[in-house]
Amino acid sequence: MAIANMTDMLIKARAGKYAVGAFNILDYNSFKAVVDAASELNAPVIVQISVKTVKLWGYDAIVSWYRQLSENVKVPVAMHLDHCKDIDVIENCIKAGWTSVMIDASSKPFEENMKLTRQVVEMATSANVSVEAELGEIGGVEDDIVVAEENAHLADPAKAELFCQEIDLQCFAPAIGTAHGVYKGEPKIDFDRLKTIAGRTPVPLALHGGTGLSSDVFRKCISLGCAKVNISTQLKHAFINEFVKYHQAHPNEYEPVKVLAAQYEQLKQEVKENIEFFGSSGKGE
Ligand code: 13P
Repeated sequence: MAIANMTDMLIKARAGKYAVGAFNILDYNSFKAVVDAASELNAPVIVQISVKTVKLWGYDAIVSWYRQLSENVKVPVAMHLDHCKDIDVIENCIKAGWTSVMIDASSKPFEENMKLTRQVVEMATSANVSVEAELGEIGGVEDDIVVAEENAHLADPAKAELFCQEIDLQCFAPAIGTAHGVYKGEPKIDFDRLKTIAGRTPVPLALHGGTGLSSDVFRKCISLGCAKVNISTQLKHAFINEFVKYHQAHPNEYEPVKVLAAQYEQLKQEVKENIEFFGSSGKGE
């Protein structure tokens, strides 16, 4: 049974200086591509669902995919709700069978962020569900959350330390300069800040905005304490580009099963490449 939360996989990853890939899926086909990629590489994996995707398919459908695809694989597979500001949605996910959730109250003042995060931790812990929270504000577009460049701000190390001391989190996402979506120029990552924060808390850290970062950046962030790396935009592009590419190459063929198969292969390959970058291949036991 490979249904798991993120707790153990992230503790091992931080200690072993590798990261678990957290991949946002869109449907059953992309869910299967992620689980199969991890299985083939014997890697622990996190399947992330954005709130929009939850609303599109419904809680029960997504949980049934999760159980069907993950119960019989050898590697641990966590199903994580990505950036969620709505406590009701978080509660519904916990009740439906998600094993992990992210409360994103990062746009609120510090005390309010702590209060909402604490509320989610209380709800989640009794259900054996792991929790991620964010401090500072990560820029860019993720699902329906848009943070303009001028509003993005980095996590303060002293506040990060207090946040992680006061609340029992399984994963902490400090804003360190990465952004969601496609980078317009060179990302300005504050590695010193990451190092300082990692030195002040043993909680496994999440690196958001993984699309477009180089393997050197991944390596450096992972060596400094990032144990979870999020990839979403890259898979959205692969999802659409592969569909278009297949149809352009076979303009007279109207066989959706072949298109879905091409899309699955492309997604699986890109997930595998990322898992190799993150060093989690072979760490599935
Ligand atoms: P990207 O869309 O930039 O890959 O970021 C994903 C992410 O951090 C999801 O929370």
